[in-house]
Amino acid sequence: MSEALDYLLKVRPEAMGHYFRFMAEAGRHLDPKTRALISVITKVHAQTEAGFRQYLRRALKDGVRPMEVIDALLMAFPALGLTRIVWAIDVLIQMDLPEFRAAALTGVSDWHRVGDTDAFDVGETARIELAGQPLFVHRSAEEFRVYDARCPHQGTPIPEQALKGTRLTCPKHAWKFDVQSGRCTQGGDRPLRRLESKVVAGELLVYC
Ligand code: FES
Repeated sequence: MSEALDYLLKVRPEAMGHYFRFMAEAGRHLDPKTRALISVITKVHAQTEAGFRQYLRRALKDGVRPMEVIDALLMAFPALGLTRIVWAIDVLIQMDLPEFRAAALTGVSDWHRVGDTDAFDVGETARIELAGQPLFVHRSAEEFRVYDARCPHQGTPIPEQALKGTRLTCPKHAWKFDVQSGRCTQGGDRPLRRLESKVVAGELLVYC
């Protein structure tokens, strides 16, 4: 939150409470990804860099794909104008998020078969390579979680040996991650990138 909003929240909590409730209520009927994309676009319109970075990361956490962000920016072009779109892309490039690199985006994404679900034990995490991409697959009692094995900091491939129990430590700058949630628990501020996955007829499929 900006310092100004923080200040207003302190000095006029009731008025600001209405404002925040309004914002929450306004997006009630939207799915989380659409809501997240609209929030990103509002930050581009206002050209608030900290807000754009924050809402972009939140959108990715909510499952928005990088190409969906790019599409949203391009679709907003008639309203926002070229200057703001270029500004947003410049910030994106500075952020150097692995999933936004040109090489990552120009490959063709599709559903890939990982293998039988029985091959993965509950509570265990496996490192695999799929379609040229290193992945960690964690199976809990409720679901599968598949993560890009490249560190969200600078894209370093994280090896299997970096996994101790449910804790993953990137060998480059020692950011630590919890594979049960994907959260960065120490050293950094970005979670592992989670990929879409689904189980079809006893097989685990991943979109990458
Ligand atoms: S590249 Fe992984 S912690 Fe820096």
